[in-house]
Amino acid sequence: MNLTLKIWRQDNPETKGKMVVYPMSNVEGDMSFLEMLDVLNEDLINKGEEPVAFDHDCREGICGTCSLMINGEPHGPDRLITTCQLHMRKFNDGDTIVIEPFRATAFPIIKDLVVDRTAFERIQQAGGYISVNTSGNTVDANAIPIEKEKADEAMDAATCIGCGACVAACKNASAMLFTSAKVSQFALLPQGRVEATDRVLNMVRQMDLEGFGNCTNTGACEVECPKGISLENIARMNREYMSAIVKG
Ligand code: SF4
Ligand code: FES
Repeated sequence: MNLTLKIWRQDNPETKGKMVVYPMSNVEGDMSFLEMLDVLNEDLINKGEEPVAFDHDCREGICGTCSLMINGEPHGPDRLITTCQLHMRKFNDGDTIVIEPFRATAFPIIKDLVVDRTAFERIQQAGGYISVNTSGNTVDANAIPIEKEKADEAMDAATCIGCGACVAACKNASAMLFTSAKVSQFALLPQGRVEATDRVLNMVRQMDLEGFGNCTNTGACEVECPKGISLENIARMNREYMSAIVKG
């Protein structure tokens, strides 16, 4: 395939960025999207030009770092996959592909397609954990019976990889889907109930402090989420939050 790439280039957070056009030839359908960018970068390096900076690590849909806006969609045109799992066979010969970073005030651009998503880390640090005694007398997790349905729902919430596609997809740059998944994975389990009140209050407070917008129920986050995290989690987080407020 011959393609035209339009890629956002920006030297650093202070400089102005711009779209730069790169023609690509001999792109194979079996290449992953990131392999296609690797080929472009090898070419740029051979020509003495600066390669395009983009985030990646596991390249198998686990780490959540490969955050790219592809033709206006986070992680591209396919559903329930990350950018690293997207294959070039999804595109056609002659296509123009627009590649941008995830855009949100709370995700400032570092360089080219790389954004700073440490806001998510700070939300996690505000309450995305449980406190357990690890001094030699840890209770066996299986000693506490948990209904299968609850365990499955908690596991589904726990599959959130913190990629930020939900924020990028949302017109308000809301982080409610991410935060609610991190609240839900504990709220559904007895081990998570002990700190549930403080957790939801602290995580929501941090989410607001980071500058993410509010949820207006458009559902774009759920559609673009590579892990199929459900809007049910946002409803659960709202219930948890109201109950925490009432408890004072
Ligand atoms: S909820 Fe989905 S889109 Fe949002 S960070 Fe988690 S995995 Fe990514
Ligand atoms: S590189 Fe890890 S999820 Fe894509």
